Amino acid sequence: MLRYTTAGESHGKCLITSIEGLPYGTPVALESVNAELARRQGGYGRGARMKLEKDEAEAITGVRQGHTLGSQVTLQIMNRVQNSEELNPITRPRPGHADLAGAMKFGTQDARDVAERSSARETAARVAAGAFANGFLAAFGIRALGFTVEIGGITSDTRIDEPAELMRVRDESLFYTLDKSLDERLRARVDEVKAAGDTLGGIFEVRVFNLPPGLGTHAGWEEKLDGRLAQALMSVQTVKAVEVGLGFEAARRQGSQMHDEILRGGNGEIARSRNNAGGIEGGMTNGQTLVARAACKPISTLRKPMQTVDLASKEAAQALYERSDVCVVPAAGVIGEAVVAFEVARAFLAKFGGDTFAETKQRFDAYRKLLEQYAR
Ligand SMILES: Cc1cc2nc3c(=O)[nH]c(=O)nc-3n(C[C@H](O)[C@H](O)[C@H](O)COP(=O)(O)O)c2cc1C
Repeated sequence: MLRYTTAGESHGKCLITSIEGLPYGTPVALESVNAELARRQGGYGRGARMKLEKDEAEAITGVRQGHTLGSQVTLQIMNRVQNSEELNPITRPRPGHADLAGAMKFGTQDARDVAERSSARETAARVAAGAFANGFLAAFGIRALGFTVEIGGITSDTRIDEPAELMRVRDESLFYTLDKSLDERLRARVDEVKAAGDTLGGIFEVRVFNLPPGLGTHAGWEEKLDGRLAQALMSVQTVKAVEVGLGFEAARRQGSQMHDEILRGGNGEIARSRNNAGGIEGGMTNGQTLVARAACKPISTLRKPMQTVDLASKEAAQALYERSDVCVVPAAGVIGEAVVAFEVARAFLAKFGGDTFAETKQRFDAYRKLLEQYAR
């Protein structure tokens, strides 16, 4: 079973991800992993730290001569700032952070020990693992792409159904939306909120194109793909809600206005009237584009700090402020793309398996052939 873990702290030596379960001979392109790490550091609204870090992943195990060895793949990203031993304690926990709950959990007055790990710096490792998985999927023509749909109440409704075009348009936008013409409005909104010492949240979407039907399962709750996606997305720092397809809107519709009719297409193939389900029915991909969205709360560290209690003095205090991002929705979309790609790759390998990449490919091709019976 494909799985990964991450390790490392925000100001420690490095971040690490360990990926288990990739077949032998999977082509490895670290350039595309590094391109995603760079995208995670970008997007308008990031703080000074992003200018300090220039993330690069190095494969330290499991890769040789450009392909996987069938053993554990470990990717390492060095931290530019490695001063965790010298950092001041955090005794004034920040509302919206893991600071207070974590300090109580560990029985300490210094939430720094918690913040070093709860920080979204950890997501660099998740992006590395997810970009690796996205590279694996690309070899089968499958592509996960994340983009911003809303920041601070300003929404982009633009939809692009062609993956290469989507990527091109998204990468031209300062906020990774599909509508560059919104850049100036969004920039003004972020600048205005920043000047007030406040922060902004928003929504990102991830689409996965060219999926075969049948990834995931209806049979066991742990492996339902929508359930796995919800867990993966919800675990991203700042994410507070996840939708697949119409999501919450589905609750307001009558059945006839919700479900996607099954039709015969012009070439005898099975087609659907629309994609309200977001490409998943019964915990499995149905052959349509997978569509998932996540809502990000505004960043918790405010330059105009909120009220807190100093854990050392027990006095009322203002929450700690350390240089911080103002809006991370674009970066969250990069992380969302990564975690979704990983879950899809996991479901893909659960279905097709294989010790070697060639074997996986054979099985995938055989399945594609089998599916032709539905097109007659
Ligand atoms: C890419 C990214 C960057 C973030 N940067 C910051 C930051 O600079 N300052 C901050 O207070 N929170 C930041 N956050 C959010 C916190 O990490 C997060 O809100 C906190 O760990 C609490 O977790 P929760 O939101 O899941 O409850 C960032 C989140 C992401 C996804």
